[in-house]
Amino acid sequence: MGTGRVAAVASDQGASLSAGGYSVGRLLISEDDLQARIRVLGEEITSDYAGRAPLLVGVLKGAFMFMSDLSRAIDLPVEFDFMAVSSYGNSTRSSGVVRIVKDLDIDLADRDVIIVEDIIDSGLTLSYLRRNLLARNPASLEVCALLVRENHRVDEAILRYEGFRVPSDFLVGYGLDVNERFRNLPDIRVVTAVPAEVATDGGAV
Ligand code: IMP
Ligand code: MG
Repeated sequence: MGTGRVAAVASDQGASLSAGGYSVGRLLISEDDLQARIRVLGEEITSDYAGRAPLLVGVLKGAFMFMSDLSRAIDLPVEFDFMAVSSYGNSTRSSGVVRIVKDLDIDLADRDVIIVEDIIDSGLTLSYLRRNLLARNPASLEVCALLVRENHRVDEAILRYEGFRVPSDFLVGYGLDVNERFRNLPDIRVVTAVPAEVATDGGAV
């Protein structure tokens, strides 16, 4: 779907947007570019894990859409599980204090686990999750993040697969939200106006 659908979605949400003080602007990554890059990531994972059945661990809620498309780009018998974590503080900035809201159902012992994340910003959520999941003795643990901040110094031993480098703007769409809005945009866009009073506590990332 092209820009017609994007415009329709954006304008459908426009009324309450202005009421909330949010405004979604510039297109950063188009739907076609997202899908093309995800196909490449899927091919890499397919060849790296040949003969194995990786367990994809999606971090709710932001990663749900990426996980859905990524899994269909992997030609292996993948399994799925999800975790929900909540980070305290302002809804547009991670505090680094992370709490597990929904834990995994599947035992990670001897599994080849791939954490699927929407965006690595400070890296604090990821570092907490890695430590937590490594303690469960998986056979292997890798990370696949759709978006990584340009200024983030990536330790390649930690971040095995990444989709796109992005600037420090607050982004929405394709699973990413601001106060639960805009997750259903098919592309990634920049939030141009955020009201000062969006601060909440315990918002799910
Ligand atoms: P980190 O702990 O600072 O790396 O933050 C990671 C989490 O914060 C991500 O999983 C997102 O849920 C959320 N986040 C960070 N930046 C953005 C953004 O630009 N838009 C929406 N969510 C974001
Ligand atoms: Mg997230």
